[in-house]
Amino acid sequence: KVADLKGLKRGYLRLCVISTAKYFAPEVLGRFCQQHAGVDVSLKVTNRDRVFERLLANKDDLYILGQTPDREIDLCSRVFAPNPLYVVAHRDHPLARERAIPLARIAEEHLIMREPGSGIRDVVLQTFERAGLRPHVRMELGSNEAIKHAIYGKLGLSILSLHTLTQEGARSQLALLDVAGFPLQRQWHVAHAKGKELSVVTSAFIEFLDAEGEQLTRQLDKTRARLTRWDDSA
Ligand code: PGA
Repeated sequence: KVADLKGLKRGYLRLCVISTAKYFAPEVLGRFCQQHAGVDVSLKVTNRDRVFERLLANKDDLYILGQTPDREIDLCSRVFAPNPLYVVAHRDHPLARERAIPLARIAEEHLIMREPGSGIRDVVLQTFERAGLRPHVRMELGSNEAIKHAIYGKLGLSILSLHTLTQEGARSQLALLDVAGFPLQRQWHVAHAKGKELSVVTSAFIEFLDAEGEQLTRQLDKTRARLTRWDDSA
């Protein structure tokens, strides 16, 4: 297969990804293009409903999704990387140093929630519901970046994909909380409509994503270590 890739001189890849995948998809495409200089790429970032619409209309070569649809869409998909969700607070928040925080304690705090239509929002709401809890939602924001800034502004806590935090350095104002049952383990899927004939470039990119999954996992491990404020020796 690697031999096929060597012959990959020219081609075009249209990738469409769900909003939170924008934190890694451009870099992954960049590394792919470095290996295959003749390949041109386009990237569309949009919300889940639009991604499913485009998938049904066969608008793009490949899709990156946070979960496969529960609706009737016939697709081929595979998991290529983890997508852990953490409760995130300002680093000065007293909970940043605590261990094994019960979810009930998080339900007492102001929570900043993603917009309707977000996959992460659905999982967060289900998690509270299953625990018989009602989160105290202070505001809804349609952007991970806006949520991060709201946490800098001490407006509340939120639940974010660790991918949204990979550029936060050791001096970041943000901290991951050690909440029972967290991180919620989601995964990234690469998908296309069943029966779709894949181009050489598309197949090469699917294969490339497997190796990228390991790199993304290492990046997440480093991010987790940088943003953990609790003291294991305590
Ligand atoms: P979202 O999707 O950015 O729409 O929340 C990501 C996910 O489903 O994990």
